[in-house]
Amino acid sequence: MKGKNIFFLAVLLNATSSLCSADSPDCAPFSGDLDVNIRNIYPEGGDWFPSNCKIYLGSLNNGTLVEYDPYTTATNIIEFPGVTHNWEYFVCGVRYSRATDTIYVSASARAPWFNTNSPGMGTNLTGPNRLIQYSPRDRSIVWEVDLDPAISDIEQQIGTPVGGLQDSASDKDGNVYLPVTFGNFLLMVDRNGEVSRFYTPDLDKLDKSYGFGGLFITENNVMVLADGVSSGFVLFNLSGPNPTEAHFSKPEGLPDNDDIHLECDFLLAPRKYRDTVALCADVLSTSISPHGVITVYVSEDGWKTSKYAGAIPVAFGQSPDVFSTAQFATADRIYALSSALPYGPQIFPQVESTTLVDITTRVDELVGDAGASQHRRDEL
Ligand SMILES: *[C@@H]1O[C@H](CO)[C@@H](O)[C@H](O)[C@H]1NC(C)=O
Ligand SMILES: *[C@@H]1O[C@H](CO)[C@@H](O)[C@H](O)[C@H]1NC(C)=O
Ligand SMILES: *[C@@H]1O[C@H](CO)[C@@H](O)[C@H](O)[C@H]1NC(C)=O
Repeated sequence: MKGKNIFFLAVLLNATSSLCSADSPDCAPFSGDLDVNIRNIYPEGGDWFPSNCKIYLGSLNNGTLVEYDPYTTATNIIEFPGVTHNWEYFVCGVRYSRATDTIYVSASARAPWFNTNSPGMGTNLTGPNRLIQYSPRDRSIVWEVDLDPAISDIEQQIGTPVGGLQDSASDKDGNVYLPVTFGNFLLMVDRNGEVSRFYTPDLDKLDKSYGFGGLFITENNVMVLADGVSSGFVLFNLSGPNPTEAHFSKPEGLPDNDDIHLECDFLLAPRKYRDTVALCADVLSTSISPHGVITVYVSEDGWKTSKYAGAIPVAFGQSPDVFSTAQFATADRIYALSSALPYGPQIFPQVESTTLVDITTRVDELVGDAGASQHRRDEL
């Protein structure tokens, strides 16, 4: 993909700074696909860190974090003692928190997602789970918490295993929320690293299929969570009188072929659309593309209601078997991760590099009206 990258010169920075959002005043804009030249990253999560203008990608198998400079292509591998090269873990969720100006890294149990002995995803819910708060500014781990006591507490209450952690999102106070995908519980970790249970589903209807997946928290402090069990979104008003009360809603206009269930490995509200557009990493929906799709939803009322806007097939022309398990956004661009995951044969292929695919134009085309109305609002 060399030569495709369009970088603006740093000298243009002052002249173009009004194009950047307030949160990244010092980052020059960039666009086009980016190649990260490190072997075998298999990213399941990644984010833009506006305070140092770098991208952080989780390396699933190695349990490391890859720091990538989109201007120079320089890379740096960050290791986590106890997690890195420990095959019990999968480093999947990597999420920037505005409230704490740090990154949250989910070191999740591997077995619920990938286990050569067990018949499939979600069948073996054992293994350790940690959340790591990492500060790119200080290049240090702020804290690291063990999520297993909170999970054991749930399992003791309900008498059956739950598990499958992946992504996280943080609210305006710096509390972090972590969905438990197989069981539909939510854990919360506060700013100081105290873990608690945030949400318990209706236990009479406990469903351990793929449920809570990706999530984001809006500027109004409303948590929007994708739920594969109800095939819809779940809202929690974190500033409201009952923050733990769940509101379920199903998007309008889902395709009739019954292939889109909101089983989202990740959910992103790109900054340029100010919480009116959500992208779901729907790796399991294969009627449009064999490697899943990125489904796109729009909402004009803070996600009380929403509409399906379409899907971007994951067929990016990279190495075969590339899935897109997560996306991330800068102030003005949207990138899809590409990850060479072995959803078929259980052997990870050797890959020399990983491409971050610029999908901004494709999202713009799909959301058309929502995008246009957003630009009008910006001009007011
Ligand atoms: C993963 O580990 C291998 C073997 O140590 C190393 O060659 C590779 O660079 C590592 N990649 C990442 C992303 O950590
Ligand atoms: C479940 O996963 C654990 C690792 O967490 C592994 O030790 C165990 O053998 C697996 N059980 C089955 C039945 O596959
Ligand atoms: C959330 O709760 C606050 C405080 O009660 C309220 O002002 C706001 O409208 C609520 N937001 C939504 C989306 O319900």
